[in-house]
Amino acid sequence: MNKKTIKDIDVKNKIVLVRDDFNVPIKDRKILDDFKIRKSLDTINYLIKQNAKIVLMSHLGKPKGKIVENLRLKPVAECLAAMMNKRIVTTKTQKTGEDSKNGVIYYCDDCIGNIVKKTINDADFGDIILLENVRFYPEEEKNDVEFAKKLASLGEIFCEDGFGSVHRGHASVSGIAKFLPAVAGLLLEREVDVLTEVLEKPEHPYLVILGGAKISTKLNLINKLAKQADKLLVAGALSNTIFMANGLNVGGSLVEKEMIDQIKTTVLKNNNIDIPIDVVVGKENGDNARIVDVGNGISNDEFIYDIGPKTIELFKRKIDKSSLVVWNGPMGKFENERYAKGTFELAKELVKVKKAVVGGGETSMAIRELGLEDKIYHLSTGGGAMLEFLEGKEMPGIECLQVKS
Ligand code: 3PG
Repeated sequence: MNKKTIKDIDVKNKIVLVRDDFNVPIKDRKILDDFKIRKSLDTINYLIKQNAKIVLMSHLGKPKGKIVENLRLKPVAECLAAMMNKRIVTTKTQKTGEDSKNGVIYYCDDCIGNIVKKTINDADFGDIILLENVRFYPEEEKNDVEFAKKLASLGEIFCEDGFGSVHRGHASVSGIAKFLPAVAGLLLEREVDVLTEVLEKPEHPYLVILGGAKISTKLNLINKLAKQADKLLVAGALSNTIFMANGLNVGGSLVEKEMIDQIKTTVLKNNNIDIPIDVVVGKENGDNARIVDVGNGISNDEFIYDIGPKTIELFKRKIDKSSLVVWNGPMGKFENERYAKGTFELAKELVKVKKAVVGGGETSMAIRELGLEDKIYHLSTGGGAMLEFLEGKEMPGIECLQVKS
């Protein structure tokens, strides 16, 4: 990476503001997937070893500039505390003598202001202070300069480590870097190194697999990757509109009709792009699952929910022939086990590949549910960020960091 990291500057006994991406799935205040939090620990532990005071910032969900009780970061504080075997201290609780030896995690219910400043001031070096959801302030997404300045006033160094949100030009992601020395954390460094290699010198044969929902948001990427990769497989709900553009029946499946003309002049003209040949369809509630060849008798009250067995075999063969596979987006509605086979079968095949780079919350969750995390070359913490990086878009959260000299 050509940007400075926390290892390139002196962070000893400094207050380091770390922007993480703790935007994790939460239900009833329980974290359903702690992957991104676990991956943030390398940087946090490094900073603890350097005796820094670590102030963590993140967004969670889309509260639209208002306080939303169930989008508070308290469950993240609890998760970090459990992972790091530390106690949580809030404005209502006191630190004990034992805490001073072990270090604690302070949870603040705000991200700017005097109480936050006092908490940081009271904390010892080696402690962690988790600030409240930065998106509770509308200024965050507007990249408001005054808000960025207030955040910056809480620390001495800014460390970007939330790869999943570096594509957002928000106050805590990029605006803040105008006011402090700004460097990358260790998670961000690894993500950027791997994805730069994919972008600039990919190993061949190079295969890309894209799934997920809206083709309108991925068409530019599809066209770009179709030039760089040796083969591109497009499936999941992304392929519905391609089927339709091809004159094939998709039943009641989600399509973006306004994209059909563009698809006809790009995707359908490109021999490098393969789409499923058979699919698993079912009724709206998921019942009555059955396999059909694409274009062959899907009724209007049926929906495409997964790729079929012939497509799985075809895609597996493509995976087996590749040295590098980049995969983002599930093959179907894999949260319903009747429609999980396509995603899970490809996930299992990926462990045979020399370099598999997987991103997107659901795709990476499928890998982890199968216990294959350690067998995959790189599991990205980014979804949209990974795709925008590969599309070559500017990433405000990376651009704003100091260049390595
Ligand atoms: C993500 O989960 O993809 C990132 O946290 C970005 O979230 P956002 O799309 O709400 O900006």
